[in-house]
Amino acid sequence: MSSKELQERRNRVLPKAMNTASTLNAAWAKGAHFYDQEGKPYLDFSGGIGVLNAGHCPTEVSRAIARQSQKLMHTFFNLLTHEPYVALAEKLVEILPHGEATKVMFVSTGAEAVENAVKIARQATGRSGIICFTGGFHGRTLMGMSLTSKVSYKTGCGPFAPEVYRLPFPDYYHNGAGRSFDAFVEQELQNFRKYLSSVVAPDQVAGIIIEPVQGEGGFYVVPPRYLQGLREICDQYGILLILDEVQSGFGRTGKWAAYEHYDVIPDITTWAKSMGSGIPIAAVMGKAEVMDKALPGTLGGTYAGNPVACAGALATIEYMQKININKKGQQVGRMVMNFFKNLKKTCPSIGEVRGLGAMVAIELVKNQDPNQPDAELTQKLVAKCAEQGLFLISAGVYGNVIRVLCPLVIAQKDLKKGLEILGKTLKDLS
Ligand SMILES: Cc1ncc(COP(=O)(O)O)c(C=O)c1O
Repeated sequence: MSSKELQERRNRVLPKAMNTASTLNAAWAKGAHFYDQEGKPYLDFSGGIGVLNAGHCPTEVSRAIARQSQKLMHTFFNLLTHEPYVALAEKLVEILPHGEATKVMFVSTGAEAVENAVKIARQATGRSGIICFTGGFHGRTLMGMSLTSKVSYKTGCGPFAPEVYRLPFPDYYHNGAGRSFDAFVEQELQNFRKYLSSVVAPDQVAGIIIEPVQGEGGFYVVPPRYLQGLREICDQYGILLILDEVQSGFGRTGKWAAYEHYDVIPDITTWAKSMGSGIPIAAVMGKAEVMDKALPGTLGGTYAGNPVACAGALATIEYMQKININKKGQQVGRMVMNFFKNLKKTCPSIGEVRGLGAMVAIELVKNQDPNQPDAELTQKLVAKCAEQGLFLISAGVYGNVIRVLCPLVIAQKDLKKGLEILGKTLKDLS
């Protein structure tokens, strides 16, 4: 069957909302490449949107999934305990301690992890308010959409969940003009404190949810002092700090968690994507005293923590440990960041290069003006690169950010090749 036939079949039976960013397809994949129906290879700079830090189809993970599927495929964990769930929980607690005692539960998607983080925060505090940020993305369930900022992810899907409050994300590039970075961050923290007097009282707020590096929003990195300031505000008022690490976790920033760059310990965190190499698995982690406040019966789900998914995730993390994924994240990040910084010197359409570890992006603007996003150029760049076998993805509320989420196991020569295609194509188009 050809790519064209596959496209025609999908158009006949799938609703329009199941759009894709391109008309490409993937028939099989390995490492940093996927291959379409005709066998044409593509270098994958999208990594399944941050799912494939350990690469496409790591052999160890495929084998673990096959083994587990022959042994025990399902129990419904709220009825019957199984070992892969417990083993995966132990592994996560070992690599991602949240203070002295940490607990973890599993669900199947990032959005579900966010839903459950909010449920736990509300039960633990007895409060209902959740504060989130402009540009944030937290999934497509009702609470996920309510917390998500970009309107095109939720057009016509309301009414949204109540008791959600949103503050501007501390984005220096767009909003910091005329001030030093430090002065800007202090002002943003003061604005946050004012919000707790003028919009919602702190004793109504269960949690503050923030991505340490915004993913869909366009790879804006939370300034360290800002996150530390949020931690102080949370401690002062008994609010829980919830960090959404769904896109930034598992080596992407050169550490297991992006928050490890900040000297901040969160109360609750959410995880998904690269923890399972593509198998549907997600986690909510937190300080034991917080996690234990949720009542039996309020958390769980039929497939949540399925044995095959847990075995796939455990094998993924063990494989990541074996190959030192965090070191790979640092190496990939350095190479991409250096390349983009050099490219910016000769490419005026790049307004900003930013990122943390291997979560690196360029923002494309007109006339070097942060407030003139160039979504058209971004789209053209993605399409032209695809013609040359490089699969890129964009991000950002205005669709003018190119983000690199390539598998961290990518060979140096492939990374170099992909970046060169990207750089040359951007210069040709600019
Ligand atoms: C930070 C963040 N949170 C939550 C989600 C939702 O995850 P899922 O698509 O698995 O529901 C995403 C997905 O992109 C994400 O990037």
